Amino acid sequence: MTATTDDRRHRTVRSFVRRAGRLTPSQERALDELWPSYGVDFSPEPLDFYKLFGRTQPVVLEIGFGNGDSLVQQALENPSMNFLGIEVHEPGVGHCLLKADASGLTNIKLIKRDAIEVLTHQVPTASLQRINIYFPDPWPKKRHHKRRLIQQPFLNLINDRLKAGGTLHIATDWANYAEHIDEVLADSALFRCDERREHDGEEPLDRPETKFERRGLRKGHRIWDWRFTKIANND
Ligand SMILES: C[S@@+](CC[C@H](N)C(=O)[O-])C[C@H]1O[C@@H](n2cnc3c(N)ncnc32)[C@H](O)[C@@H]1O
Repeated sequence: MTATTDDRRHRTVRSFVRRAGRLTPSQERALDELWPSYGVDFSPEPLDFYKLFGRTQPVVLEIGFGNGDSLVQQALENPSMNFLGIEVHEPGVGHCLLKADASGLTNIKLIKRDAIEVLTHQVPTASLQRINIYFPDPWPKKRHHKRRLIQQPFLNLINDRLKAGGTLHIATDWANYAEHIDEVLADSALFRCDERREHDGEEPLDRPETKFERRGLRKGHRIWDWRFTKIANND
């Protein structure tokens, strides 16, 4: 797999800054002791999902899973699917490892790395059934808009990694990011919008409530949810 010029340009502007936040002793222990069971180390080689999960079930990817509560809940509710989570915030990864282990999950794997690098190098073409991006960092200041994850080069990348008929689910609580998402997806010939909801937290689309969603609702924000489907070449 080779990285395109767009991929490289996109990668120099990161969509995250490492948030402060100490690891609790149990999160630290989880990163040491549970990582061998649930963690996937970064290597610039495409993964073999069959080997990774030990079965051929469809793979759902969650990008920026935060503390992992939504990822763990979806993995519990969908035992016939495999779940791969990407997050750079170590305390969140530690929290998710503890929850996955406490729930006895066997259909979940975690990667602790920039999702752009993981998608570029480790996720094979046409390998994902669904991608979930819940409350991506909104980067509200205009000079930071270039850091937003949802951009045209990113859509090109994830479109390639989705299977035919695969879906992209996005949620945000940030009105200006919602406008941006509407525009970028409307400009893209790669995805069809199947559903768009604007609500006050009472109508999440096919997903659990998340920590950042609760925070947004407490501040009086509205919520936007979308489901897009990858458009096949012959659609
Ligand atoms: C606003 S938080 C939302 C967390 C969670 N989805 C929720 O709704 O509670 C966005 C998360 O995305 C992660 N993130 C942002 N860009 C990322 C990237 N390129 N790769 C991996 N994680 C990323 C951040 O570390 C952060 O935890």
